[in-house]
Amino acid sequence: MDTVEVFNGVRLPGFMHTPESLRTACSFQFQDTDVLLVTFPKSGTTWVQQVLSLIFCEGHLWPILHLPNWSRAPWMEQVSFSHLLSQLEPTRPRLLTTHLHATALAPALMRSKARVVYVARNPKDVLVSFYHFHRVANFLPDPSSFEEFLDEFLKGTGFFGSWFDHVKGWLGLQRDLNMLLITYEELYQEPRSTIRKLSAFLQQPLGPAEEELVLEHCSFSFMSQSSVVNYSLVSKQIMDQSRGKFLRKGVVGDWREHFTPEQNEKFNAVYQTKMKDSGLHFPWTRGGHI
Ligand code: A3P
Repeated sequence: MDTVEVFNGVRLPGFMHTPESLRTACSFQFQDTDVLLVTFPKSGTTWVQQVLSLIFCEGHLWPILHLPNWSRAPWMEQVSFSHLLSQLEPTRPRLLTTHLHATALAPALMRSKARVVYVARNPKDVLVSFYHFHRVANFLPDPSSFEEFLDEFLKGTGFFGSWFDHVKGWLGLQRDLNMLLITYEELYQEPRSTIRKLSAFLQQPLGPAEEELVLEHCSFSFMSQSSVVNYSLVSKQIMDQSRGKFLRKGVVGDWREHFTPEQNEKFNAVYQTKMKDSGLHFPWTRGGHI
């Protein structure tokens, strides 16, 4: 269960990633109608998978109520991808998901006009969510302490690699790809306008009733109770949710409950160094400090 696959210097859980599954992702032939959701883990992937499938479901909730998120928007790099891809409804744009870094997927993507939705989240909240997830997911090592986990996150040596490289790598391609950037924070604070932004980008306009349907079915309260998105379908050997829920808190700023003032200072210093030349501005850097 806890084997490791190293890909381009990045550690990935071995039980769902293999050299072959990674090769399949990197040589994938995108169609212009494909929609690829790109995230660093714990940035709101499941949430936006739900929003995207709702936008495309045109009021028919059957897949939302019965199909797990990973089969509605399969991860390209995982071993199950080819099988899940063959099960997608052929009449709709294909919804795909990846946590891979841009260096791995961009060459294949650039050969198409596929749409890319990149979701970014305050890395302090990503770190906290990821820390708790490491305790729940049996395919990830138990973190020894929060301090050590934080250091590893800042160095970028943890599973899935560096948050900084992920964000800078993908967002550095905004001009080369057909890409929309949204943040977890804007979806949290302004769900309606963020959903409108997404539906406009996807050229999938929503009527007032459809918009309400999307809002209702992507709420934290609805998703927490839905077995097809709360990962309760996954066996305890893979995710032990008696140790913590997958849909844990679903809020902005939970890092304040976890960071000491010293850890916060350390994080800010690394953030400023690593992001200073990126030209990227996020809701969490408004006011000049993260
Ligand atoms: P927390 O651990 O901070 O609660 P991913 O899907 O990328 O693994 O991200 C998981 C994070 O997104 C978790 O964060 C989870 O609670 C949050 N999340 C999932 N659905 C959400 C929703 N409908 N509203 C708010 N947050 C949500």
